[in-house]
Amino acid sequence: MKKLSAKIQDDDADDWKPAPVPDTSSLAALAKAARSCTACHLYKRATQSVFGEGPKRARLILLGEQPGDQEDLAGKPFVGPAGKLLDRALEEAGINRDEVYVTNTVKHFKWEPRGKRRIHQKPNSREIAACRPWLEAELRLVRPKLLVCLGATAAQSIFGPSFRVTRERGKVLESEIAPRVLATVHPSSLLRQPDEESRQREYAHFVADLRAALKASR
Ligand code: URA
Repeated sequence: MKKLSAKIQDDDADDWKPAPVPDTSSLAALAKAARSCTACHLYKRATQSVFGEGPKRARLILLGEQPGDQEDLAGKPFVGPAGKLLDRALEEAGINRDEVYVTNTVKHFKWEPRGKRRIHQKPNSREIAACRPWLEAELRLVRPKLLVCLGATAAQSIFGPSFRVTRERGKVLESEIAPRVLATVHPSSLLRQPDEESRQREYAHFVADLRAALKASR
């Protein structure tokens, strides 16, 4: 695990440029190029970039926030606790994960040390802007029928900071970056519910949003 002081990260936070995306029609070539991305400072503390995964002809793209601790180590999106819950909800909604393309708004894990733990930090607008060309390239190559934003970071990166997932969830909306977009909550929000009753209620609502996404992608 890389050791960097919080100070280094703060000093570098304003230093960014748009990610250098190669001109290619290959998702594998994009993922390879993203491995050496230094467009913002997040690469310094992350183990590796975590690029999107899934078939090029996927009808759905699922967009999360950023890789978490386990994703950072595995180099794959949504393989940790939130990913396991997402897998269960996808299955219940009748969506085969192998047929969707899963990616993140920001491709490096942003974290701060707390004791021995790596604590997730929300990416800021500069980090999201630096990473944006990768998402644009993924959308250009996959051309999904529907982009599904999981949580506020993903949805606000598409619609702007005033977008509220609570108000707009489950609706098919238009955006500049993708013609059809549906926003829902992030699966990690289900893990943070205070009791079993709200967990079940929120999970059922999430599955219903995924069913709506499947219908809209047909
Ligand atoms: N949360 C995300 O937004 N993306 C991941 O890949 C894992 C957790």
